[in-house]
Amino acid sequence: MANNETILVTGGCGFIGCNFVRMMINKHPEVEIVNFDALTYAGNLDNLTDVMDSSQYHFVRGDIQDAALVSKVIADYEISGIINFAAESHVDRSITGPKVFIDTNVSGTLNLLQQANEHGIKRYLQVSTDEVYGSLGATGAFTEESPLCPNSPYSASKTAADHFVRAYHHTFGLDTIVTRCSNNYGPYQFPEKLIPLMFNNARIDKPLPVYGDGANVRDWIYVNDHCEAIWAAFTKGTPGEVYNFGGASERNNLEVVKAILSYFNKPDSLIKFVKDRLGHDQRYAIDATKALTTLDWKPSVTFEEGLKMTLDWYSTNQKWIDNVTSGEYKSYYKKMYESEG
Ligand code: NAD
Ligand code: DAU
Repeated sequence: MANNETILVTGGCGFIGCNFVRMMINKHPEVEIVNFDALTYAGNLDNLTDVMDSSQYHFVRGDIQDAALVSKVIADYEISGIINFAAESHVDRSITGPKVFIDTNVSGTLNLLQQANEHGIKRYLQVSTDEVYGSLGATGAFTEESPLCPNSPYSASKTAADHFVRAYHHTFGLDTIVTRCSNNYGPYQFPEKLIPLMFNNARIDKPLPVYGDGANVRDWIYVNDHCEAIWAAFTKGTPGEVYNFGGASERNNLEVVKAILSYFNKPDSLIKFVKDRLGHDQRYAIDATKALTTLDWKPSVTFEEGLKMTLDWYSTNQKWIDNVTSGEYKSYYKKMYESEG
């Protein structure tokens, strides 16, 4: 990346986006960042209070589906690259309300690709997910060649977006990269997701709602390792290619929840097995050989180290959790977890 380039980061007020923006401001002073975010329930300006005064950082509130605004921002800030984090990201919400997933994840991505193409953007990176590959049995791992087999409305929308990225590369020659990462955890994750939700409940002795039998397996990666991987792919990746990232830390949900309880010295009796998620994917595991061998990247922390850092962060940032759980979250939680009686 040359000096003085300006990158459009969409969804920079969400969990992974804010950690990425922070990394860029702190480690890459040669790059300016325009954070373009609609500030949905998952986006929070407070996630970036420590870097918002940097001259390297600019914020625009907007929807990635808004063609005129995206076009204006690209022109005004002389954007040379786009990294698209913006998305509806929660599987459970996609089961109860899939429409907005098509709007943001598919139509929004298509609009960004169209604007990127019209403005001659040098590189477009789509932050995708391992969920596009579907679910694994007891063995094996997803490679970039694994068939796309999405099971939830969320993963179907992300897969559709990936197809549009591929098509813009093939049809228009747009320089694109797609990254597919496994489950992230770390600071600033909205407490609808497993780890911060369980932290928040364990803290106040509220039951910990484990779906089904808790045997579903995820491949956990610390969010900063994902952010480093995205930057490595953006700066070193080959146009048109897909890169898988994972943390090489497979754990089943019960193991994760028990580790959180043991952090608090609280009993496993707080675990409550609840109705399973519809269409619940059994197991994700990533083969990251391509990224490890071609991007000069590797995960830097073990799950135990990363989980301790994460739980310590939530412990010392209780005010952040209190703020994000004060509004819409309350009715979401009631509908999701308290309607069964
Ligand atoms: P998040 O839900 O925490 O944040 C999403 C951000 O996008 C929010 O700031 C929100 O305001 C913004 N946004 C939503 N709709 C928008 C729109 N129409 N226009 C502009 N901004 C909009 O999500 P996250 O967990 O940080 O995930 C970021 C990306 O990474 C997503 O594309 C997701 O699919 C992908 N991903 C997530 C994980 C994970 O474990 N969280 C793993 C792999 C890939
Ligand atoms: O694999 C990458 C994906 O990881 C990302 O693309 C998604 O954006 C991200 O949300 C995440 O999806 P998951 O569905 O795997 O994450 P979630 O935290 O919602 O759930 C993790 C596991 O925990 C899953 O097996 C469901 C289970 N779970 C989750 C919640 C919220 C429970 O058992 N109870 C819960 O209350």
